[in-house]
Amino acid sequence: MTVIIDGKAEAANVIEAVKTATAQLKTTKGLMPGIAVVIVGEDPASQVYVASKGKKAQECGFHSVQHTLADTTSQEDLLSLVDTLNNDPSIHGILVQLPLPGHIEEGEVLQAIDPDKDVDGFHVINAGKLTTGIGTAFVPCTAAGSMLLIERIRGKDFSGLNAVVIGRSNIVGKPVASLLLAANATVTIAHSRTADLPALCRTADILVAAVGRPEMVKGDWVKPGATVIDVGINRIPAPERGEGKSRLVGDVAFAQCAEIAGAISPVPGGVGPMTIALLMANTLVSAYRSAGQVPPTF
Ligand code: GUN
Repeated sequence: MTVIIDGKAEAANVIEAVKTATAQLKTTKGLMPGIAVVIVGEDPASQVYVASKGKKAQECGFHSVQHTLADTTSQEDLLSLVDTLNNDPSIHGILVQLPLPGHIEEGEVLQAIDPDKDVDGFHVINAGKLTTGIGTAFVPCTAAGSMLLIERIRGKDFSGLNAVVIGRSNIVGKPVASLLLAANATVTIAHSRTADLPALCRTADILVAAVGRPEMVKGDWVKPGATVIDVGINRIPAPERGEGKSRLVGDVAFAQCAEIAGAISPVPGGVGPMTIALLMANTLVSAYRSAGQVPPTF
């Protein structure tokens, strides 16, 4: 029987642990973890994501602030806000929602965030710590969440297992590959220029799809018994639900792949909830570190 990985339940476990540790930090150190989420412009999907991050932060007992800036905001003004947040002792985690409007240099903004408050894990200091294994990195939340789901199925040591990651983004593909490698998997990162992707995927005991192409991974790409993690969130037209309706699908053709895989994460309800949970976990860890306390591990 194929295991359908319940990301909602796993995320709820993480959130419970965050709540408990937050209460402890308040009692022992009088400190409330604080997160600032910055959104520039009115991209509807980003607004939904940002609202749910704020809601979850409040549920965890965090101090949570949202800065909503007009899409005409200058890079200078955005950098100035980041600087203010870097120097605000009540804020332990800063997240600038991507994508940013075209006139803003994304890299400049992300690298301006204090690496100790970079709960997205996008700063080169955190990326470097992750790839080298030196120091303790903030790991990008979607990658960390995907890894937790894989660990639930495969344990923590992937010696002898082949992992294929489709997608080479800094947000998911590269960090998830680093995590898999650190857990002793033999890792291949595939992308749009990879030759014979289906054949490569069929070698994967662990297959992570993070490309943003609806239902690209087909049933005959999957090795029997493989663990398949679908990071894609794609909205596609669903005329069968009525005119103008749409539905969410992943990068994996779920029904066909579920017949072959040993375990598979659905969309929605798989990696998505984990991303927010790990953002809360990273913010909590940052608050613990700022208080000189040993943070819990997730
Ligand atoms: N946009 C889509 N995913 C993310 C994420 O994980 N962090 C940020 N900051 N923006 C995003």
